[in-house]
Amino acid sequence: MEFSIKALSPEKKKTGCMVVGVWQGGSLTRGAQLADKASGGQVSAVLKQGDLSGRSGSSLLLHRPSGLAADRLLLVGLGEQKKFGETAFKDAIRSASNALKNLGAKDATLALTDLEVPGRDLAWNVRHAVTGLREVLYRFDILKTGKKLPVPALAAVTLAVVGGASLKPAERALEEAVATADGIDFAKTLGNLPPNICTPAYLADEAKKLAREFKLGIEVLEQRDMEKLGMGALLAVSSGSRQPPKLIVLKYLGGAKKQKPIVYVGKGITFDTGGISLKPGGEMDEMKFDMSGAGSVLGTMRALAGMRAPVNAIGLIPAAENMPGGNATRPGDIVTTLSGQTVEILNTDAEGRLVLCDALTYAERFEPDVVIDIATLTGACVVALGHVASGLFSNDENLAGEIGAAADDAWDRVWRLPLWDDYQEQLRSNFADMANIGGRPGGSITAACYLSRFTKKMRWAHLDVAGTAWKSGREKGSTGRPVPLLVRFALRRAGLKPR
Ligand code: BES
Ligand code: MN
Ligand code: ZN
Repeated sequence: MEFSIKALSPEKKKTGCMVVGVWQGGSLTRGAQLADKASGGQVSAVLKQGDLSGRSGSSLLLHRPSGLAADRLLLVGLGEQKKFGETAFKDAIRSASNALKNLGAKDATLALTDLEVPGRDLAWNVRHAVTGLREVLYRFDILKTGKKLPVPALAAVTLAVVGGASLKPAERALEEAVATADGIDFAKTLGNLPPNICTPAYLADEAKKLAREFKLGIEVLEQRDMEKLGMGALLAVSSGSRQPPKLIVLKYLGGAKKQKPIVYVGKGITFDTGGISLKPGGEMDEMKFDMSGAGSVLGTMRALAGMRAPVNAIGLIPAAENMPGGNATRPGDIVTTLSGQTVEILNTDAEGRLVLCDALTYAERFEPDVVIDIATLTGACVVALGHVASGLFSNDENLAGEIGAAADDAWDRVWRLPLWDDYQEQLRSNFADMANIGGRPGGSITAACYLSRFTKKMRWAHLDVAGTAWKSGREKGSTGRPVPLLVRFALRRAGLKPR
């Protein structure tokens, strides 16, 4: 889909479908007023007849509107004007996108982009309009051979803004948003792929393809490399599987040479059976999404490279499959991590922290400015925060603040949980430096506390995306979160620090 941005008046634009907003209660946005005037009052007549409530989520399509150059006019309800904000804006984009998806129009023009969202600027609206549309138009049907849904005709979207102000920032925002949407889609597709296709080797191949396409640096460490290095924790996870583990390193250096990189570390468990501590059968298929952290890192690298962001970023992905088997790790096994610390593996289902701890230690060699790991780490995080916010943990106040701000900006929200030392004792082991589990109370926190033992030397944050990386039920599928947050974080940071 092609996106462009233009200063134009809605009645004059030749387009397959012109989209304008209408407030609940019947008052018109500027775009709707102009369309109404040109059509000799068609819009207000429709509202007077009670055909459109203006409620958020409502919409009405008019064919061949008189006096307009457009083939169709789509009226979108925005809800109450005085309550208009981020959520209502995003809802309006979503209902417009859903309507457009099912039309025959090849192109459309959105006169919604310059609606005033309190506290946000035009660039924000542009970013969320683009990613909102792309969200609705995303599909994953490559593995269906039967009847597929028809491919939407919509191929081009123009974002209309009122003339006057410079379009430069909005154009930059558009470019960023398209690259971000490409990254989100990439992460979603990796997540949605079945675990017999999306193996650690597949992730490594996709990373190599990405590196080729976007000229990124790449290195893939193989099992023997990990053995040589002494990554006993990572290897303990993959040992029960026929699939060899991979440690993927992707480098995008778009910033100044001396600028230390952001290192993103993504949990890449391509299927989590629990291992010998086998999971119950219900919904186990969803454990194919246990590589969502890895997917989000690949998506973020793609987005940053795609928009040629002025940042240095490294993606680090420990990829493995967690299976039971004759060579699988047993509860009670003690392994030595890359850091030298020993771990008693009391539960083989707490495998995410095992692959992450070795990857986090490995991250030290890149002399990172900051390290952020992203992991579908604990069911307890889903209990705590549901499917709205990702869990945020950090050993650095400034970093936590920056991530929180980027998350609000990207509307990909996080909520901070504590990393207090008081929780550390739950990880005590009689036989090793630590256990890999801390019992049921505060399960997300003790998981983060475990990771914190490997990140003492760096400014580090951990995102537990167990509740946000995918949806269950009828809508089952990867969300691509937290790619929006990770991209925004890098871009805001680049803005903070001149090159
Ligand atoms: N991948 C799971 C976490 C998970 C579970 C995410 C359900 C989303 C939905 C992780 O590897 C895991 O199994 N964690 C265990 C940890 C426990 C054994 C301490 C959990 O959350 O039950
Ligand atoms: Mn597990
Ligand atoms: Zn897992």
